[in-house]
Amino acid sequence: MADNYLEKRYEETLGQQRPKVKRVGNTVDTLLRKNRSTRGYNIKYIVSEQELRRIIEVCSKVPSACNQQVLRFLPVTKESGADRVLPLVKMGAALPELHLPFEGTEPQAFIICCSTAKESPLVDVDLGIALQSMLLKAVEMGLNGLIIGAFNREKLREAFNLPYPPLMVLAIGKGAERIELTPIGADESHAYYRRDGIHYVPKVRPDELIISTHA
Ligand SMILES: Cc1cc2nc3c(=O)[nH]c(=O)nc-3n(C[C@H](O)[C@H](O)[C@H](O)COP(=O)(O)O)c2cc1C
Repeated sequence: MADNYLEKRYEETLGQQRPKVKRVGNTVDTLLRKNRSTRGYNIKYIVSEQELRRIIEVCSKVPSACNQQVLRFLPVTKESGADRVLPLVKMGAALPELHLPFEGTEPQAFIICCSTAKESPLVDVDLGIALQSMLLKAVEMGLNGLIIGAFNREKLREAFNLPYPPLMVLAIGKGAERIELTPIGADESHAYYRRDGIHYVPKVRPDELIISTHA
């Protein structure tokens, strides 16, 4: 006898048991849990241009407002100039005393995300979808990443002679940090913190994400 609501409803409506679905590989929940913003990397792991291209490729499968698909991406490896990106990005602004990344753990590869159209709310939604999809792909590949919005747009555009303005930067690499999620109430501090070498990321409990109305 089914013991959850969906399966009970299935049995009541169709008079048969709901077929079981066999899961293959990482579930979305696993990928999401592993996909933590990473600000320290194993610099011995050299991310290749091919790996960055595989990550970028997911963007030809994702939703896009009006299917506009205006985003363009520049893969930057250690060889093609990661050391020119690094001084132009800011990481871990909520922990200024740490001056992240620590020396010897700097990201060695980046994806610079640009738009052929003027930035707008819809372009930004597309950008969010693209960034998160690329991060999930990176995690699936055993890599990690960080979305970086705090960077010098003019200098980055200049440094790589970009034909379009850069909107966001994605750092990619083999993570070398212990990061854990910690549940919080919506009114508690959202600031991430470090204790005993572990980076804690507070997340609002799922039940507090649901709006309850009394209509
Ligand atoms: C749009 C956006 C911009 C961000 N910009 C930066 C940034 O410039 N530097 C940084 O260290 N982290 C940046 N982050 C990462 C957030 O700080 C991070 O998502 C947050 O602390 C929660 O951690 P989590 O991603 O592990 O859940 C950015 C995240 C997003 C979604």
